[in-house]
Amino acid sequence: MEHFIQAVYFVTVILFILGLKRMSSPLTARSGITWAGVAMGLAVVVTMLWPDLHNIGLILTAIFIGAVLAWISGRRVAMTDMPQMVAIYNGMGGGAAAAIAAVELLRGELDGTGLIALSVAGGLIGAVAFSGSMIAFAKLQGLISGRPITFPAQQPFNLVVLVVALVFGAALLVVEDSTALVLAFFLVALAFGVLMTLPIGGADMPVVISLYNALTGMAVGFEGFALGNAAMIVAGTVVGAAGTLLTQLMAKAMNRSLGNVLFGAFGKEAAAGGGEIHGSLKPIEVEDAAIMLRYAGRVIIVPGYGMAVAQAQHKIREMMDLLEAKGVEVKFAIHPVAGRMPGHMNVLLAEAGVPYDHLFDLEEINAEFANTDVALVIGANDVVNPVARSDPSSPIYGMPILNVDQARNVLVIKRGHGAGFAGIENELFYKDNSRMLYGDAQSMVNELVQHLKQL
Ligand code: TAP
Repeated sequence: MEHFIQAVYFVTVILFILGLKRMSSPLTARSGITWAGVAMGLAVVVTMLWPDLHNIGLILTAIFIGAVLAWISGRRVAMTDMPQMVAIYNGMGGGAAAAIAAVELLRGELDGTGLIALSVAGGLIGAVAFSGSMIAFAKLQGLISGRPITFPAQQPFNLVVLVVALVFGAALLVVEDSTALVLAFFLVALAFGVLMTLPIGGADMPVVISLYNALTGMAVGFEGFALGNAAMIVAGTVVGAAGTLLTQLMAKAMNRSLGNVLFGAFGKEAAAGGGEIHGSLKPIEVEDAAIMLRYAGRVIIVPGYGMAVAQAQHKIREMMDLLEAKGVEVKFAIHPVAGRMPGHMNVLLAEAGVPYDHLFDLEEINAEFANTDVALVIGANDVVNPVARSDPSSPIYGMPILNVDQARNVLVIKRGHGAGFAGIENELFYKDNSRMLYGDAQSMVNELVQHLKQL
């Protein structure tokens, strides 16, 4: 039986890797999720076949409750609430790894210091990922303030808590059968996860969640070594590597170091203004904006966080269809950190049926703005702010941006004078070629659609 189980684990591991590979393109991403899901289902089923498995009733009850809760919450979650959903699921993975470590350390049957050390490492990392993810969830869900929560000497205090957790962990290698020590170790590790996440601002949470995702993977991998479970080792390593790469990519696209995200308390105070901005904000009537779009040869749409808030993607798709039917070329420019989570814009536009071949990454499309009649910015702000190129005193200086200001005409849809995530003025809105269409993105695009139908 054991050989059969190991053989099935091998198949699940291959499915995990192929599933992840398929997730790298929007065309195959859905099937990638299915492949990985099937692999996880297989791994769970085959694990039930271990000959010396106890408490089968309890295990099945837990699986049933978890599956029902996940099914309902997965179907109901709004697209804009996806980051906190990922946070909570991800945290559960870390928590599960920590729970395995706790059981193994309490049972005291791990063979040798090496395996105990692996279990302690997985327990520490898993507990931090669990409690940190729960704070990330609470911040994004508005259960606690999304602003950085800071207190004097916070970082040295956090360091002391981490050192205490490490000392308790090291003590577990030598002290046997100490329930109190195991408990103390996990309590301090959980506290560190909370303390580490509190000073991080809500808008930085996607990067933090991705980091905790990487940590969860590592924790699962360590526990896999401790238990001798190949599926856990490979799945954990794959998640750990993918999470690490994603964390780095996000930090790079925001032009911030991971250290700045974790320890910079970004968003505590409104960012300092940077250089002076010249020009004025020039509103435009929606009829005139529709005419501008209708008679353009090429239009590039730049969606941002405001599109997600307004859920404007379906109306945008309708507008795209109308413009294309009238012979206008329409493309979408997608900034890597537009919105609030990786792939945020791609997911929403795909949901509305915008074809993938209409979506272009920053590097692919940036040179085209100079030959574009109208750049239509919908709820985007920081990702099109030219100060990122020109003002070294700006907090977003150095972040790669979409060169929207180089288009012949720029139309900007936003509700008012609200700043973006970085909290700074946007030079683009004051440029001579920019016009402001004030209103909620969905209703504004709807009005554009109504006018376009008559042109
Ligand atoms: P932001 O710079 O956050 O700007 C969004 C704009 O949308 C705001 O200026 C707001 O102005 C407008 N808006 C809000 N609700 C709207 C609505 N219902 N209708 C129309 N407009 C609305 O967005 P962005 O350009 O997408 O940039 C993303 C930012 O988030 C970057 O700074 C990035 O570094 C950061 N970030 C991204 C990620 C990921 S992974 N994507 C992770 C962490 C942080 P009004 O209030 O005036 O309407």
